[in-house]
Amino acid sequence: MFVECRGTYAWSSKVCLIFLQVFALTISMEESVALASDGVFGNSESVINRKPARRKLDDIAGSINIDCGLPEDCKYIDAETGLQYTSDASFIRSGINKNISSKFSSTTLHKSLTNVRSFPQGKRNCYTLRPPEGHGTMYLIRASFMYGNYDELNQVPQFDLYIGVNMWDSVKLDNASHLVMKEILHAPSDDDIYVCLVNIGYGEPFISSLEVRHFHDSSYKTESGSLALYRRLDAGSTTNEIVRFKDDAYDRIWFPYNLPDCESLNTTVPIDSHAETEYKLPSKVMTTAIRPMNSSASLDFDFDIGDSTLEFYVYMHFAELEGLQENQTRNFSITLNGNPWGEANIVPKYLHSRTVNNKQPVRGSKLKFSIYKTLNSSLPPILNAMEIYMVKGLLQAPTCQEDVNGISRIKSFYLVEKNWQGDPCAPVQPWDGLTCSNNGYESPRIISLKLSSSGLRGTISPSLLNLTALQFLDLSNNSLTGELPEFLSRLSFLTALNVTGNKLSGSVPPDLIARSEKGSLSLSVANNPDLCPSAQCKENKNSVGPIVAAVVSSLVIIFLALVIIWSLKRRKKATKSLVRSPEETWSLKMENQRFRYLEIVSITNDFQTVLGTGGFGTVYHGCMLNGTQVAIKMLSQSSKQGMKEFRNEARLLMRVHHRNLASLVGYCHEGTNMGLIYEYMAGGNLQNYLSGADISTSPLSWIERLQIAVDAAQGLEYMHCGCKPPIIHRDVKTANILLSEKLQAKIADFGFSRFFSIESETHATTAVVGTIGYIDPEYYISNRLTEKSDVYSFGIVLLELITGKPAIIKDEDNIHIVQWVRSFVERGDIGSIVDPRLQGNLNTNSVWRVLETAMACLPPISIQRVTMSHVVMQLKECLEEEKAHDQTRRMEEQATKSSNLIDLYSLDLELEMGPEAR
Ligand SMILES: *[C@@H]1O[C@H](CO)[C@@H](O)[C@H](O)[C@H]1NC(C)=O
Ligand SMILES: *[C@@H]1O[C@H](CO)[C@@H](O)[C@H](O)[C@H]1NC(C)=O
Ligand SMILES: *[C@@H]1O[C@H](CO)[C@@H](O)[C@H](O)[C@H]1NC(C)=O
Ligand SMILES: *[C@@H]1O[C@H](CO)[C@@H](O)[C@H](O)[C@H]1NC(C)=O
Ligand SMILES: *[C@@H]1O[C@H](CO)[C@@H](O)[C@H](O)[C@H]1NC(C)=O
Ligand SMILES: *[C@@H]1O[C@H](CO)[C@@H](O)[C@H](O)[C@H]1NC(C)=O
Ligand SMILES: *[C@@H]1O[C@H](CO)[C@@H](O)[C@H](O)[C@H]1NC(C)=O
Repeated sequence: MFVECRGTYAWSSKVCLIFLQVFALTISMEESVALASDGVFGNSESVINRKPARRKLDDIAGSINIDCGLPEDCKYIDAETGLQYTSDASFIRSGINKNISSKFSSTTLHKSLTNVRSFPQGKRNCYTLRPPEGHGTMYLIRASFMYGNYDELNQVPQFDLYIGVNMWDSVKLDNASHLVMKEILHAPSDDDIYVCLVNIGYGEPFISSLEVRHFHDSSYKTESGSLALYRRLDAGSTTNEIVRFKDDAYDRIWFPYNLPDCESLNTTVPIDSHAETEYKLPSKVMTTAIRPMNSSASLDFDFDIGDSTLEFYVYMHFAELEGLQENQTRNFSITLNGNPWGEANIVPKYLHSRTVNNKQPVRGSKLKFSIYKTLNSSLPPILNAMEIYMVKGLLQAPTCQEDVNGISRIKSFYLVEKNWQGDPCAPVQPWDGLTCSNNGYESPRIISLKLSSSGLRGTISPSLLNLTALQFLDLSNNSLTGELPEFLSRLSFLTALNVTGNKLSGSVPPDLIARSEKGSLSLSVANNPDLCPSAQCKENKNSVGPIVAAVVSSLVIIFLALVIIWSLKRRKKATKSLVRSPEETWSLKMENQRFRYLEIVSITNDFQTVLGTGGFGTVYHGCMLNGTQVAIKMLSQSSKQGMKEFRNEARLLMRVHHRNLASLVGYCHEGTNMGLIYEYMAGGNLQNYLSGADISTSPLSWIERLQIAVDAAQGLEYMHCGCKPPIIHRDVKTANILLSEKLQAKIADFGFSRFFSIESETHATTAVVGTIGYIDPEYYISNRLTEKSDVYSFGIVLLELITGKPAIIKDEDNIHIVQWVRSFVERGDIGSIVDPRLQGNLNTNSVWRVLETAMACLPPISIQRVTMSHVVMQLKECLEEEKAHDQTRRMEEQATKSSNLIDLYSLDLELEMGPEAR
């Protein structure tokens, strides 16, 4: 692999630095705004950017109720809800209507389930929903599926469901009568909402019904993403029936929920009958509740999630159902997985609902709730209803809006018959005839449009101009008329234009001809009887002279160009033999740094001193002939890496030089003996320091911790920004941050984990490399690795520096440090998280600022995380301030000793320190 790093060559270092400065500037401006508005810990509403609704919401009749598969123009009033359901014909143009098998049809089955729309054709098919309230407001979207053997194949299919360009969920059905409902609370960024069904090769997708409801209040706030329904429970239901519209004004569907050790209580008096509340909870749900049978016991229940990386928002709804006597009280608190959750002392209001929810998402492979009465409460706790939602980070951005507008107008201009629905580029595959660029999670662009033999009529559409990233345009074999317009030459990225086989007239614009002659555009205009292939012919159709002249002059130009290229090449060769290219210097250096196995044996004194063992092998202490101390990592023999890869990696590592990266002195590769020789770091690793395992070291002071953080951050920043392509460490953790005698920190093992990923099975999984507690949750789920994964891990390191606790806190029920910190931060209790070894000698502002920086590294969605450059900047500022503080403190101490000079000193100090602090 060819890696180029800042500082490797003089020129690249300068260029990169300038770039970095500009970059850092833009980042800092944008992000400080973002941080300010979010307050980092605050309850940001980035997704739900609400604007006033245009129509009153509880007018639910105006919501969208689609019975998929109902014949066109049919509609009916649903007997149960009184809502009108319509055919889906105007929402989608593909698919076929089918009735489910009569065997599964029954009078009790909801009518919308008796027919389906099935999609035998196309990999993806999308519904376009356009609710009147428009974008930026919160909708509940519900899709229902019941197979009912509609295709007589007796084989339930499995397929994927997308909201817009992002995966919503997989649809898996257990049997033909299994009804699966998927629900999501979603605030779309565009007026059109696409719901797409994607064929994944396990049978044809189908859908039974699609419903859209609108919330007119900001009830369900989230920090990020949309919310997919996990559970919505009506606790203590006495009827065992589901509740929905009209009992629920928003048509949420509530399922009955009762627990074995609980009894249900109820009231006949309606709840919230006088005051409308934010969540508009249905009275029918709130008039029942559960409480523990044993009135001194707690109300315990749990949900098995299985996947501890998923994030949830929980809403618990309470209302007091009993008129309490003067000497009676009902107070309770809640824990989730053993940690305090929600509010501390909950007192339900008589016949009025109140909702308790978490401001930050919660995680855990199990969600274990316990509602327990507080000491002064005479009555047991109750629960009336609860909802659990799973965060869906909708990471993929839709196609660039300008491209969408352009292609949509082209579609209507030519009345394109193809199956063009949903977003042009995503999900899964673009529209037929389009090719899109892959920009990761960023908006894709349309780069190629192929509409040959598509029966196009009329002129060439000016909307093509809006596809500004277009490189390839094929309109051949249609019936296009009019001129080949001048404006096509404004598509600056166009490299191929094919309009053969049309009825175009006039002449080819000179700009296009020029580009074609230069060789930057492949131009095909044949078989247009009235089109003249040259600009000149308009005036002088029969003259051959100018054409010959043009051909001759272009030949001359080409010849000249060839001569120039040839001579340049020769000159290059000549210089090459005089000056060694950096590449060559490198391979020479490589050889100098290659060690024989016997040399290693001697350097390590026959592997006498073991410094440590890791997932990849054992690390030994060594001493080179010149006295330099080294640490030699011998890779375990089971490694399957080939010589070439190993050399490449060693080469990569030796190329990377930065004072905050542990430098590689050399390597050894002989047969199965492979080793890497690093400079020796006498201070050991940061983990040892923080854990206090090594009692010979004194605890790190705050300023030392800050210095270490700055050092490590700079090392990482260099790997991300100073190297091209960027190097992603993948295993940033305190154990991989080494300290010199003077506590200078260096990052070790960089670029290494990527190479030896196969051996990392000891860690989380085979596919994902890293260490539990530090792994970026998004990378863990998606396997998609970016620099932001390192940023996440570094955030954990910062938290460890602040708290002195490990990433997974064993003595606190294996809680993750992020959760642990959040539980205190939510209560504003920063004092309790700071490492007790730092107490008394601390500037809280500085800690708070580092904590904010850490939290800015830790959003679950990678694009919301800050960059390492930003982190470096923040930490450096903190360090400077702290140094200034420290100095002030020390000087003040001195000043107090010689009390006569107090005034003089502090005066001087202010003058001096003010401008220098930064
Ligand atoms: C489905 O059944 C209805 C009658 O219940 C019938 O009118 C309709 O034509 C059937 N649709 C199909 C696609 O067979
Ligand atoms: C179909 O699957 C559902 C959900 O797993 C289950 O409750 C139901 O009993 C099954 N029905 C039959 C007939 O197997
Ligand atoms: C309400 O609770 C009472 C006991 O308090 C019980 O007798 C009654 O059946 C319950 N009502 C309903 C509708 O279940
Ligand atoms: C009721 O719960 C309390 C506390 O959990 C327990 O000490 C007591 O034994 C329980 N009583 C009964 C009858 O189960
Ligand atoms: C509460 O007061 C009522 C009378 O108002 C009495 O009957 C009851 O025993 C008292 N309960 C408690 C727990 O003190
Ligand atoms: C499309 O391109 C035209 C001409 O450049 C421009 O005026 C118009 O604003 C563009 N439309 C959109 C939606 O970008
Ligand atoms: C242009 O389109 C025609 C008809 O589709 C095709 O035969 C020809 O190869 C194309 N030319 C180029 C350069 O792609």
